[in-house]
Amino acid sequence: MTINLQNRRYIGNKFKLLSFIDNVLKKENISFETVADIFAGTGVVSCFFLEQRKKLIINDILFSNQVFYQAWLSGDDYNDNKVSKLINYYNKSSDYLQDNYFSETFSNTYYSFEDALKIGSIREHLEKNKESLTKREYFIILASLLYAADKIANTVGHFESFLKSPPKENGVFLEALNIKNYKYKPEIYQQNANLLIKNIKSDLLYIDPPYNARQYANFYHILENLAEWNKPPVFGKTLKMPRKEKMSLYSTASAKKQLQELVSLANTKYILLSYNNTYTAESTASINKISEMDIYDILTKKGSVKIFDTQYRFFNTGKTYFTNHKELLYLCSCTS
Ligand SMILES: C[S@@+](CC[C@H](N)C(=O)[O-])C[C@H]1O[C@@H](n2cnc3c(N)ncnc32)[C@H](O)[C@@H]1O
Repeated sequence: MTINLQNRRYIGNKFKLLSFIDNVLKKENISFETVADIFAGTGVVSCFFLEQRKKLIINDILFSNQVFYQAWLSGDDYNDNKVSKLINYYNKSSDYLQDNYFSETFSNTYYSFEDALKIGSIREHLEKNKESLTKREYFIILASLLYAADKIANTVGHFESFLKSPPKENGVFLEALNIKNYKYKPEIYQQNANLLIKNIKSDLLYIDPPYNARQYANFYHILENLAEWNKPPVFGKTLKMPRKEKMSLYSTASAKKQLQELVSLANTKYILLSYNNTYTAESTASINKISEMDIYDILTKKGSVKIFDTQYRFFNTGKTYFTNHKELLYLCSCTS
């Protein structure tokens, strides 16, 4: 069995919207060579553009996401046999099992003791054997471990908290990544998009930030902790590590200011922005910090704007159309 890039439970991932993105760009005759995906999440949008032989800049504030980009998309060298051998060893042997940070910290909450012991032991073994692997081999195995840990977690799909019922022993099984080759090697970053934007130039800038108060650093803290392996102390009922520098300003009251700044600094011919307003306001955390009208106002200062919904109805006069759309794409042809 092999894994594909999109086989993650990642909130707001645009895998199902790739043809929507493609249709808008094709029908609008947008010609571009370099794409910057600066809130890249899973990397599915980036991967889609790499498959179209585009040059790519990919970025996300989370280190765990960078692990996936390095593994799937970097184009660096790796030896498939070496990777398979180590993955087989982790799946079949128990020689390397030992008490570890992960089992001591997360047993009987997010994972059963046995699963946490195995996840942490693999992570520890991988770190100790880092020197014998190329950078990409290391990231491929780490990515495979992150997929395995994500798949069996005792959660609803993200790690904001664990389920009340005790975790089952699911078994940890690492799968090979179904890696493809692309024409160009991308530039890969882990930065605040508003800082990165000052140093990059693209033809097409794809913007897909979080729009509500729910922080991705909270959703995926376990994967981030496991990926970084700094073994930090964790706090509170939900066992989160300190993660201040990973918190997104797009999930705060300054979201609108952030987007204004980002757009004004963008050095690009086109901006394509995804907007989602499907969350019902069950809690204030789910209410979008930036409205459709805010976005329209911000983008019209940069160029001419068209708005599309998934039925490819487009609206270019703004204001009156902003009701109950699920997913929108804003396309801005930049004049400044
Ligand atoms: C809606 S998700 C993107 C989903 C992505 N397009 C996909 O298809 O998987 C938003 C992403 O922005 C990242 N993020 C939030 N604030 C950021 C910032 N200031 N700079 C860079 N990335 C940020 C989050 O970690 C999250 O992965």
